[in-house]
Amino acid sequence: MRILSGVQPSGRPHIGNYFGAMRQNIELSRSSDAYIFIANYHAMTSIRDPKTLAAYTDGLARDYLALGLDPDRCAFYRQSDLPEVCELSWILTTITPMGLLERCVSYKDKVAKGLPADHGLFAYPVLMAADILIVKSTTVPVGADQKQHVEVARDIAIKFNNTFGNVFPLPEERILPEVSAVPGVDGQKMSKSYGNTIEPFEDEKAIRKKIMSIKTDSKGVADPKDPETCNLFALFRLFAAPAERDAMAEKYRKGGTGYGDVKKRLADLLLEHFAEARKRRAALTDADVASALSKGAERARRVARETLAEVRKAVGL
Ligand code: ADP
Ligand code: TRP
Repeated sequence: MRILSGVQPSGRPHIGNYFGAMRQNIELSRSSDAYIFIANYHAMTSIRDPKTLAAYTDGLARDYLALGLDPDRCAFYRQSDLPEVCELSWILTTITPMGLLERCVSYKDKVAKGLPADHGLFAYPVLMAADILIVKSTTVPVGADQKQHVEVARDIAIKFNNTFGNVFPLPEERILPEVSAVPGVDGQKMSKSYGNTIEPFEDEKAIRKKIMSIKTDSKGVADPKDPETCNLFALFRLFAAPAERDAMAEKYRKGGTGYGDVKKRLADLLLEHFAEARKRRAALTDADVASALSKGAERARRVARETLAEVRKAVGL
């Protein structure tokens, strides 16, 4: 079983990304046949500024290493260090029916949200199929929003095998357990596009300030409060140990605890949670990052070259 997962460097990760995706990827990186990569070709569908793309790519690599991804166990690499992916993507594109891509909801959603309807955005699932097939991965852990893209990758692999002979194992999605959406400081789902994020690696003052600004209802200290509907409590429960979480829920219901105190405690817990990672990130040198990524790229590239040679032969190139 070869596991592969990709993450777009489309911004600075926030704690929603951490609980919803990064934590699971780090868990995966402990299995020896895992391939985890930074999808910087994909991010070009939304980022047009070279400095920004480079900074997000480098930042995400540092974040993952600091959070505990083990680059000696898994192959951790940048997509653009595997140019074979682009050649395979073209080859796959020649056998991909338009209708298959036209059915993809993610393209329609992104265009509806204002991203330009470029060919790259439309062909995004083919590049994703190339990511998956170039290393012959069989298992692709993704959130529910990416399920359709893995199905497209499988359809493309079937079409390729039927047309040119059996080259690719068929990849299967593994849907990550649904994590309930982490709320942002304004109570909506935390998202880069809403400007309501808290980032694990921003400076301590900024984190505390953002936490103090979390929106709550206007109940006073003495009033009983409902933990189930409070977005501050939804954040608190992510960081508190079960006993403290339950005790806080009880205090909410009884009244006598103000939101200000809960926020202060949340800030301490959050900083404690990421303390080790923050220390590690500060200590990471450029050389550490470069060496981790080049090791990963070398390993992935060895497999990618073999696959591409097989593919070229199968299609007559
Ligand atoms: P954003 O909404 O900030 O642009 P992305 O769409 O880039 O985030 O999400 C990357 C990953 O992080 C996805 O797997 C997504 O499911 C997860 N994720 C993003 N925001 C949240 C959130 N608020 N709660 C839980 N998971 C999230
Ligand atoms: N499209 C994925 C996302 O936005 C990222 C990605 C690119 C990916 N290539 C992949 C995920 C291959 C799994 C496998 O989250």
